[in-house]
Amino acid sequence: MRRFQVAIASSKGGVGKSAVSIHVCYALSQKGFKVVLADADSNQSSTYWAERAEKNGHDLGFTVIDGINGDVPSDCEILWIDTQGNPDLEELGSLSRNMDLVILPCGVDAGEVTATFLSIRKAELQSDDYKILLTRVPPKPSRRGKMLHEQFQEAGLPVFNSSVQYRICHVDANESGLTLGQMKGRAATAGAKEYARLADEILKAVEKGDESR
Ligand SMILES: Nc1ncnc2c1ncn2[C@@H]1O[C@H](COP(=O)(O)OP(=O)(O)O)[C@@H](O)[C@H]1O
Ligand SMILES: [Mg+2]
Repeated sequence: MRRFQVAIASSKGGVGKSAVSIHVCYALSQKGFKVVLADADSNQSSTYWAERAEKNGHDLGFTVIDGINGDVPSDCEILWIDTQGNPDLEELGSLSRNMDLVILPCGVDAGEVTATFLSIRKAELQSDDYKILLTRVPPKPSRRGKMLHEQFQEAGLPVFNSSVQYRICHVDANESGLTLGQMKGRAATAGAKEYARLADEILKAVEKGDESR
């Protein structure tokens, strides 16, 4: 199998870029892939998450390397890059051309939605190269996530069917260096399932891109 390269990028901080990175890498490694997470964000949230995991004796199932100077092991099948926040348009454009897929996480606030629309348009991203992921989506009875999903679809922009719901158990996960899949409780289990479905969708998207190359 050739190595797939996926990057997650957002113009706003705090949208869940690192939480998605850690959880999707965990889900992909659970599916048997050799996954490496390259942390290229200067705030190093993914790196510190992995350090807390190690300190507490939890095995994430994948390795986190320095995204700038780290060496990618030769047996790596999926290289996931947690990118520097707020990339300039040129960087975003070249990322989208060089990666198999760029994931653009977007929260439900108007400011985040506008920033996502703008960066796609200004960086002239091609619809085969990226996919929008709704993150930190308020749970039912809120309809914001569903409405926003429809809004992106109506605008003809590629958006994942899976979205990531806002779940307070992320605070404990982050603090302990665990993933939701390694935690007990209904919320954590539901969150882990959501990330696993997202991992499947990501695999489909990169494999489809590979066939059409
Ligand atoms: N789905 C979620 N539900 C609740 N809190 C979340 C979720 N995703 C991330 N968070 C929390 O939001 C904050 C920002 O997330 P983080 O992944 O560090 O964002 P980014 O990498 O985009 O800056 C963190 O405190 C994290 O624990
Ligand atoms: Mg981060």
